[in-house]
Amino acid sequence: MRLDKAIIGAGLASRRQIKKLIRSQQITVDGQVVQRPGQIVDSHLQDIRVAGQKLVTAKESYFLLNKLAGVVSACSDSKFQTVLDLLREEDRVPGIFPIGRLDRDTEGLVLLTNNGPLGFRMLHPKHHVDKTYYVEVNDALHPDAPAFFENGVTFLDGTSCKPAQLTVLSSQKGHGRARVTISEGKFHQVKKMFLAYGVKVTYLKRISFGGFELEDTLPAGAYRQLSQEEIKVLKKYFD
Ligand code: URA
Repeated sequence: MRLDKAIIGAGLASRRQIKKLIRSQQITVDGQVVQRPGQIVDSHLQDIRVAGQKLVTAKESYFLLNKLAGVVSACSDSKFQTVLDLLREEDRVPGIFPIGRLDRDTEGLVLLTNNGPLGFRMLHPKHHVDKTYYVEVNDALHPDAPAFFENGVTFLDGTSCKPAQLTVLSSQKGHGRARVTISEGKFHQVKKMFLAYGVKVTYLKRISFGGFELEDTLPAGAYRQLSQEEIKVLKKYFD
């Protein structure tokens, strides 16, 4: 990894401070003064010092959590419980954050990691990471609904969405149920897409994200570590 990225990731200095520290010869790798911020380093193998402070790389952590309604997918909140509050203390490692956001009333799959670059890459629009939601609405979903979503929904403010795949599970009057897959992450996207169709979302749960499925065995509020095999696959696509 690049030295500057390692230092920024560890929270020891900003890009601008790194330049200054290099000029004043205050960054060393295995005792050698560093000349270039882009020098390739391995913080597990080398002794990196920034103004005398040792760069310590945290162990990478990856969790799959089943968010409860009422919990916010943020790192801190003055009013509500956050997804980090659902982690055991030993798993609340520095830099851990939820990859993407669900509304407070939305349930389901949230991935968490302290691997910032990987998390941000998963969210980058160019990767078109699929997200599937189970949705309940306050009225019937008619046979025209899948085509409406497939054509790319446009909100009242003119925002247009990429095609989404809708499977109607129940078209019962007053209580439609469906599964929808989107590849973007616009604010309140699923709720707004259904509003554009003419119904209101009454229940929303993310059931898959980036190839991960929410298992029935994971109760609401519980979480598990990703396996080494799952981390390998994640890194293959996003590292
Ligand atoms: N779309 C929404 O409207 N809400 C969510 O929480 C996620 C996607």
